[in-house]
Amino acid sequence: MEDVVTRPAVFILLGPPGAGKGTQARMLTEAFGLVQLSTGDMLRAAVAAGTPAGLAARSVMEAGGLVSDEIVLGILKERMRQPDIRAGVILDGFPRTAAQAAALDDLLAENGQTVSAAIALEVDDEAMIDRVAGRFTCAACGEGYHDRHKQTARPGVCDKCGGTEFTRRADDNAETARERLSAYHAQTAPLIAHYDDLGVLERVDAMGSIAAVSQQLARIVSRVSA
Ligand code: AP5
Repeated sequence: MEDVVTRPAVFILLGPPGAGKGTQARMLTEAFGLVQLSTGDMLRAAVAAGTPAGLAARSVMEAGGLVSDEIVLGILKERMRQPDIRAGVILDGFPRTAAQAAALDDLLAENGQTVSAAIALEVDDEAMIDRVAGRFTCAACGEGYHDRHKQTARPGVCDKCGGTEFTRRADDNAETARERLSAYHAQTAPLIAHYDDLGVLERVDAMGSIAAVSQQLARIVSRVSA
């Protein structure tokens, strides 16, 4: 019988701030057992822990710019060495520059892997500012909510874990969100053409409801993983 070598799937979620990358990555984790790798979450953890990388990243993140490729690649490569990623990964917020995309291609090639699909969440800029400004997160489990689009079922109580403490991100204000949006257009949006050239680009209309976007993504992941 022919040997079949299965390699972990690698999905990328591309999209501007507030496009729904984190929301949908959590859905894909629950539905498909993929491991969510969010460089934003990793950097916020480094900032909170006061590590050298966190100290260097903090002011850049607060201003809405992109953290250096060197720092981001350092923490991402470290995370990709953990054995749990064999379940397959969903990259949320990475890559964000041409250098990061090239480094990812090289990293995967070392294991004979390629990107399974890069999914571009397509949204209007103005809707993004509204989504980001209304976002809040359960302090205990990280579940994301929105003042209008995704409220807790019981006021002040997390649907997922029952937590009652919620946080808002320091960079979730309209002014910083606009800086993040312009960094996205200047440095990250060009990656869409890179993945189109590689033949792995999938486009998703992310202006619909969270459930409608989830359905589109689930269809793509099921098809690509089959
Ligand atoms: P990061 O944490 O990655 O933030 P981001 O890309 O700006 O994305 P967000 O987390 O703001 O949005 P999202 O797309 O995840 O939306 P969400 O699902 O939460 O990065 C933060 C910073 O870290 C960067 O600015 C940079 O400084 C640095 N950084 C991170 N990675 C880096 C890298 N690779 N290189 C360099 N620097 C890096 O949804 C938003 C809200 O909308 C929620 O409230 C949600 O409930 C709601 N919502 C979601 N979908 C819908 C929908 N369909 N309809 C209505 N509401 C919706």
